Amino acid sequence: MCGRVLAALYDRGVRRVEEAGLRARRRELLASLPGDVLEIGAGTGLNLEHYPTGVRLVLLEPDPHMRRRLAARLAGLRLSAEIVPGSAEELPFPDSSFDAVVSTLVLCSVADPGRALAETRRVLRPGGRLALIEHVRGEGALAGFQEAIAPPSRLVSSCSPNRRTAEAVRAAGFVLIEQRFVLERAPFWVRPAFSGLAVRDAESPLLE
Ligand SMILES: C[S@@+](CC[C@H](N)C(=O)[O-])C[C@H]1O[C@@H](n2cnc3c(N)ncnc32)[C@H](O)[C@@H]1O
Repeated sequence: MCGRVLAALYDRGVRRVEEAGLRARRRELLASLPGDVLEIGAGTGLNLEHYPTGVRLVLLEPDPHMRRRLAARLAGLRLSAEIVPGSAEELPFPDSSFDAVVSTLVLCSVADPGRALAETRRVLRPGGRLALIEHVRGEGALAGFQEAIAPPSRLVSSCSPNRRTAEAVRAAGFVLIEQRFVLERAPFWVRPAFSGLAVRDAESPLLE
């Protein structure tokens, strides 16, 4: 589906899921992020209202139609942020630029999650954290169904419902503390999900 249509339908498409608990999870995840924060795949900006005042926020988004909606939402808020075009697999920032990176419902969409996670780790400062909400591969028959629909789903919406994202986060070198949950009112093949903080370094005070 073309980016313009996806961007136009996005907020309406996720509204019931937001109201059924996703919005509360976003709030909980983002409320205490410190300092310099990068959000990858910021979409239409559904996280914006939850950032604490005082963060220096950079919003990365590759799709121009999403970026237009992101800018419109940002303009209505008392929050300043820089919107940057670009992809998570090739972050246009020097090493150690951010205290936190945010990824919500993005690692299902990127073409190469391993590369996106390596880039994320590169731009985080020592002790930095990656804040995540991602839907993931389920188990048993559900996983089989997710495998079957992954190719058409990628074609239509760029979304792979069968990704083992928590495992990929750990394989990229992060220490992940995650909470599994169900995305209520989402289509059944994207309901298994997790939220959590992935810490860049095992010796982080966050883990004590
Ligand atoms: C399902 S939407 C999620 C939007 C937003 N993060 C949210 O929580 O509502 C996925 C977003 O990831 C973006 N995206 C897709 N591929 C990407 C990539 N390689 N790098 C960064 N963002 C990407 C899409 O343009 C889209 O805005």
